[in-house]
Amino acid sequence: MTNILIVTSSANGAGSVSGRLAEAHAAQLAEAHPGAKIVRRDVGAEPLPHLTADTVAAIKGEPQSAAEREARALSDSLVAELQAADIVVIASPMYNFGMSSTLKAWFDHVLRAGIAFRYTSEGPEGLFKDKKAVLIESRAGFYSEGDGAVMDGQEPHIRNLLGFMGITDVTIVRAEKLAFGPDAAEASIAAAGEALGAFADGSLRLAA
Ligand SMILES: Cc1cc2nc3c(=O)[nH]c(=O)nc-3n(C[C@H](O)[C@H](O)[C@H](O)COP(=O)(O)O)c2cc1C
Repeated sequence: MTNILIVTSSANGAGSVSGRLAEAHAAQLAEAHPGAKIVRRDVGAEPLPHLTADTVAAIKGEPQSAAEREARALSDSLVAELQAADIVVIASPMYNFGMSSTLKAWFDHVLRAGIAFRYTSEGPEGLFKDKKAVLIESRAGFYSEGDGAVMDGQEPHIRNLLGFMGITDVTIVRAEKLAFGPDAAEASIAAAGEALGAFADGSLRLAA
């Protein structure tokens, strides 16, 4: 059985382009992987708390206080969802040239030393090597190439975080130019949906 984790992170609820693409992709993956178990984590609708001293203490050692135990339980449950996943789909709206703070908070909770990565005498080693990731990005502007590319603090950051955990099989689909008028937005969303469908049925790999 294939385990699929869908992480969405838009503050825009049902109006979210990345969220809608992720939901359509969940259906595509369910068809391509009969019997797949799909788990959804919407950190846009239900933001995770930022890290605090309690969280750091709780994940570095044995939690001592009630607050530390609570922080540890949350982090453990987020890590467990990711650990169980064969495919993780991350839907990321671009906010201020980066990922949303809610998605960053999710990474802060799951990127745990000793679980997601470890340091060796050779340097860092990611420990989630056998997973595939699909990264769905939505942006008002255009950053894939040209003058805007240098402003993209979203894709390189997310790719680094995934890579640090050992997730290097990353397929990236971008819905861009969403503020370039209805025609451009529609065409971009349709192309992204098609690319995701092709990834789901195995006919296309879009590592950027
Ligand atoms: C707070 C905020 C900041 C944004 N910053 C950017 C930005 O830096 N660059 C950009 O191209 N679009 C930016 N946008 C537009 C969103 O990326 C765009 O609306 C996208 O569709 C959001 O994804 P969603 O539809 O899944 O919520 C921003 C939107 C919001 C709400």
